[in-house]
Amino acid sequence: MNFEFKTLDLVAIAAEKSDALIVLLTDAYKPGKGELAGLIAKALKAGDLETKTGKSLQLYQPSGAASKHVVLVGAGDGSPKQVRKAVMAAVGAIKSAGAKKLSLGFAAPATAGALRAAVLAAADASYVYTTTKSKPQGRALTHVLIGAQGSADLKPAFDLAVGAVKGIELAKEWGNRPPNHATPTLLSHAAKELAKHSKISCEVLGPKQVAKLGMGSFMAVAQGSRQELRFIVLRYDGAAKSQAPTVLVGKGITFDTGGISIKPAAEMDEMKYDMCGAASVLGVFRSLAELKPNINVVGLIPSCENMPDGLAVKPGDVVTSMSGQTIEVLNTDAEGRLILCDALTYAERFKPAAVIDIATLTGACVIALGAVRSGMFTENEELAEQLSKAGESSLDLCWRMPLDEEYAEGLKTHFADVANVAGRAGGAITAAKFLQRFTAKFSWAHLDIAGTAWKSGAAKGATGRPVGLLLDFLLAQTAKAQVSTKHAKQSRAKAA
Ligand code: BES
Ligand code: MN
Ligand code: ZN
Repeated sequence: MNFEFKTLDLVAIAAEKSDALIVLLTDAYKPGKGELAGLIAKALKAGDLETKTGKSLQLYQPSGAASKHVVLVGAGDGSPKQVRKAVMAAVGAIKSAGAKKLSLGFAAPATAGALRAAVLAAADASYVYTTTKSKPQGRALTHVLIGAQGSADLKPAFDLAVGAVKGIELAKEWGNRPPNHATPTLLSHAAKELAKHSKISCEVLGPKQVAKLGMGSFMAVAQGSRQELRFIVLRYDGAAKSQAPTVLVGKGITFDTGGISIKPAAEMDEMKYDMCGAASVLGVFRSLAELKPNINVVGLIPSCENMPDGLAVKPGDVVTSMSGQTIEVLNTDAEGRLILCDALTYAERFKPAAVIDIATLTGACVIALGAVRSGMFTENEELAEQLSKAGESSLDLCWRMPLDEEYAEGLKTHFADVANVAGRAGGAITAAKFLQRFTAKFSWAHLDIAGTAWKSGAAKGATGRPVGLLLDFLLAQTAKAQVSTKHAKQSRAKAA
């Protein structure tokens, strides 16, 4: 889908030839000139239209508009959140009309955040998965023209949003793919594909190399599957080599049966989404390829299936992780932490500025936070604040969870350095405490996306989260890096 941006007022956007026109009306809207504005004023006055979010009025070929279908929709206070709601509803309304070209206009001045929300919502509301359909009926919408005016230049916000959409949609695509169409090997091919973009490189390790590295914990999870494991290393080099990279580690379990500690049959298909952490890393790299920021990023994806088998790891088995710590596998369904711990140890070699792991790690996190916010765990105050902020600005929210030492109590065992599960209580936190044991050498945060990476029920599908959050986090690092190089330049200039 193509997005285009033009600085246009209501009269001008309404004059653009499209199949459908959506007009966003915020509380700040004051009817101006033009036939459409007259119509809006009349409808508002009659109470047939309100600027309250989601209230809408559909018109057919109204005078003053060059589009057949017109939706006037309230966007409340014009905040990104309200704009997202309004656009989701309005795009839903024009979907049945099969519009190919859509114009989307802000009737009142818009902010950068509101513009971004509009682009993301238009993409989200029109997204259709087609890869494994024999007669794909893809998204009808091929072109979206956004018309807005603001006090600041809105083009950078527009470009950022379009770049984010690319990554979010790649994450959705891989999340949604059935598990036989998204094996570890196929994921590694997707990563290799990304390396065709400039500044991105990719290395893929197989079973032999992973064994050589001593990733005994990761290998233990993979040993019950006929699909070979893959360890994917992606690099985005957008800054000087001297700049420490941020490392993203994505859980890439392409199917989680639970292993010998097998899961119940109901909804087990949803465990194809257990690679959504990995998909979010691929998505971020897709967006980096588009936006080319001035930073260094490493993406690490340990990927395998978790299957029951004659050779599968058993409850009670003790394995040795790459860090040297031994782990008693009390529950083979707590496999995410077993593959992540070795990837975290591998991350040490990059001397990272920070390491963030992203994982559909625990059902307990879904119970704690539902589908609204991802769980965020870190002992680093600065990281916590940056991640929270990135969540707010991208409308891809997270919530900080505790990491008190007492939560690690249940991981103690007589038979290894640590057990892979504690009791049921505080399950999302005990999982984070397990991971924390492997992060002594760098600043670390963990995002549990079990509740936010996909939707269940009738609207079943991957959400592309938390690509938006991660991108905003990384781009904020760019801003900081630029400020510090600017300072360096200034002080060099002063010295000279
Ligand atoms: N992939 C699951 C977590 C999950 C469960 C995500 C449900 C989304 C929905 C993970 O591997 C898992 O099975 N975790 C167990 C841990 C338990 C055995 C300590 C869980 O949450 O039940
Ligand atoms: Mn599991
Ligand atoms: Zn899992």
